[in-house]
Amino acid sequence: MTTDDPTPSTEALDFYAAAIPGTEKALCEELRELGFGSVRLNRGGIPFRGTWHDGWRACLESRIAQRIQVLVNRFPAPTQDALYAGIRQFDWSRFVSYRQTLAVSAVCHGCAINHSGFAALKIKDAIVDQVREKTQARPDVDREDADVRVFAHLANDKAAVYLDLSGEPLHRRGYRKEAGEAPLRETLAAAILRLSQWDRQSPLTDPMCGSGTIAIEAAMWSAGIAPGLLRERFGFERWANFTAESAEAMRALRGSLRAQAASGRCARIIASDSDESVLEIARQNARTAGVKPSFRQHSILENPPSGDSGTLITNPPYGVRLEKDPLFCRRMGALVTRLHGWRVGLMAGTPDYRREITAAPRFSVPLKNGDLDCEFLVYDIE
Ligand SMILES: C[S@@+](CC[C@H](N)C(=O)[O-])C[C@H]1O[C@@H](n2cnc3c(N)ncnc32)[C@H](O)[C@@H]1O
Repeated sequence: MTTDDPTPSTEALDFYAAAIPGTEKALCEELRELGFGSVRLNRGGIPFRGTWHDGWRACLESRIAQRIQVLVNRFPAPTQDALYAGIRQFDWSRFVSYRQTLAVSAVCHGCAINHSGFAALKIKDAIVDQVREKTQARPDVDREDADVRVFAHLANDKAAVYLDLSGEPLHRRGYRKEAGEAPLRETLAAAILRLSQWDRQSPLTDPMCGSGTIAIEAAMWSAGIAPGLLRERFGFERWANFTAESAEAMRALRGSLRAQAASGRCARIIASDSDESVLEIARQNARTAGVKPSFRQHSILENPPSGDSGTLITNPPYGVRLEKDPLFCRRMGALVTRLHGWRVGLMAGTPDYRREITAAPRFSVPLKNGDLDCEFLVYDIE
């Protein structure tokens, strides 16, 4: 494996797409659909194989991955000296010069080295020492906004070391400048849309849309707009070996994805909320994303969806927001139970919704929304 050339090549590299807990199956399906090789379902994230070009493409095209990382070295690390020596086997100066800033993080499970902060420090020292010996200058550490981010997984005295291609996590698409209360991460919204098995062409409604995340992600997916096109740059574009030639290749890739999106037709997406101020934010976010869901202000309780069939995907209020209206879950339960012919997907942050809907869900998926344990409930209302 050579990982020193960031320009497109045919060399096969091992990538890892990090997932929000519970979204692994959706991410696995997405990466297969995008044509990546050796995609394997795995807890926590999805490994796949490909070229550098594939790594770039995953950053631009995956709607569900939180990060894309590439494996650069794997070695036994039973002691701190072995960890230091193993890190130095790899030529870091190709990615990190004294002009780049660096951040290292680590996790340890079942290892003699059992302190992740200490492991990260040792790895950082090994990289910095190597670069200094080669160039007589050292890179600085920047934990907030590093040019080069290194992740190490230490398990059973073996280290696997990854470089992060994404930079900022991939849910930061760039269209959501403002949000209402409790917004969903864009990657989580994209995951529940895929999990719901929506066909991307028939009309879709989110009647409690908040800042519009589900509606905007649905519109972008339906129209084939790559989610990374609004991002100014990714982590790998800040590496030492990202040359003018690499930048040209990246421009061409962005250009071809833009051209694909321009020919895409978008399904009818209807988004509403009872709160006009949050709808204004949603409208602005949609404009920035370049999509046009139809936004309306009304309460779902007074204006329930009508029609013989349809798809409704939403993230209803939970926690303190329900204290204002303790009967809300009961009223929502009755309303959903009456939506005959509809597929309904609820990203529920409280078990009360499941309790109040008399139909049994067709399936449900446990998911993490930040620190909160949630359940994505999918119903086919007979
Ligand atoms: C958890 S937030 C949705 C967040 C959204 N998914 C996002 O990413 O920004 C719930 C939303 O439901 C809205 N809401 C609460 N009661 C409502 C009602 N009766 N009818 C319509 N919307 C309502 C709130 O204004 C809030 O925006």
